[in-house]
Amino acid sequence: MPGLYIGLMSGTSLDGIDAVLADLSGPAPRLIAHAHHAFTPALRVELASLNSPGKNELRRAALAANDLTRAYAAVAGATLALAAVPAEGLEAVGCHGQTVRHQPADGYTVQLVNGALLAELTGITVVCDFRSRDIAAGGQGAPLVPAFHQAVFGRNDEHRAIVNIGGISNVTNLPSTGVVTGFDSGPGNLLLDAWAQRHLKQPFDRDGDWAKTGKIIPGLLARLKADEYFHRAPPKSTGRETFNLEWIEKYLAGNEAAVDVQATLLALTAHGIADAIIDFCANATAVYLCGGGARNLELVNVLTARLAPREVRTTDKLGVDAEQVEALAFAWLAQQTLTSKPGNLPAVTGARGPRILGAIYRA
Ligand SMILES: Nc1ncnc2c1ncn2[C@@H]1O[C@H](COP(=O)(O)OP(=O)(O)O)[C@@H](O)[C@H]1O
Ligand SMILES: [Mg+2]
Repeated sequence: MPGLYIGLMSGTSLDGIDAVLADLSGPAPRLIAHAHHAFTPALRVELASLNSPGKNELRRAALAANDLTRAYAAVAGATLALAAVPAEGLEAVGCHGQTVRHQPADGYTVQLVNGALLAELTGITVVCDFRSRDIAAGGQGAPLVPAFHQAVFGRNDEHRAIVNIGGISNVTNLPSTGVVTGFDSGPGNLLLDAWAQRHLKQPFDRDGDWAKTGKIIPGLLARLKADEYFHRAPPKSTGRETFNLEWIEKYLAGNEAAVDVQATLLALTAHGIADAIIDFCANATAVYLCGGGARNLELVNVLTARLAPREVRTTDKLGVDAEQVEALAFAWLAQQTLTSKPGNLPAVTGARGPRILGAIYRA
């Protein structure tokens, strides 16, 4: 069937891989199947460790990329099995890869994936390494989802903001007319996850239930919010090398109760997102959330209160499951590449111009 693509996304939350199988032949994408595979603990630990300088990185990164690629192939295969669709008919797999370094100021970003191996394992054309071309053209290489948000969620009768709350959170400003902008607003789930993993020994604080029982520490919240990143004007992008446990610890006095720190981190995360919308999407009347953070009830409650009277909903309301948006975006970006269309928005990334993104490994 022409127009069928798989999108593969594994983000900075390091939770695992989301895959979608979608038909992109019509005016709106049609989702056919979705699968999520959690990372094995060993792969998660190795990918997390590769985010920081370490010993023998080149070999470890190559081996981790191979393991990750086998995991990508398995979850891509799961979507095909769910839909009983053979791999032969597919146009391409768009694969984000796993970011282990993001240093646009130094001219590079690294997303681990072995594109050649993924093409071998799936028998499908693979498009990957989407970010490097935008950086080569002077851009941040991120965020890349705004072009997709514009194509799928843009309307001429409503000024929308789309917020993807992954490990990092990014905002797309979709005015009813005029230029679409977007940027990484700062931490999404990753500070909340890191603190919950340390103190609850769980991958994340489900629904924000733990944070809800703590008390915000006003002085700490003020110090965290003073961080330079929140006050920098877009274009801007960030990652795990900035926002992590060490970043939290830098601001702690040491005598805070862990639960109160979690409450404060939740407030920081919500305020960071809401204030970015208030500052840079001033006239948006509707805010749509996606990414795993859209399932964090307490986070959504604080966001909704701070953004009133704007309507805050999830993209489920727009017909795309919040947890499938980013994977679908990478299927769409692969289609842009194969049809020789740009995938970046220069007003978002700061690149010198629109660029056809990605590296192609033919089936
Ligand atoms: N019910 C929930 N309550 C709180 N957080 C949640 C919930 N469901 C998902 N999440 C958060 O979403 C994250 C995964 O989001 P995802 O969009 O996959 O991020 P990424 O793109 O960075 O991988 C989890 O690590 C967790 O922090
Ligand atoms: Mg994820």
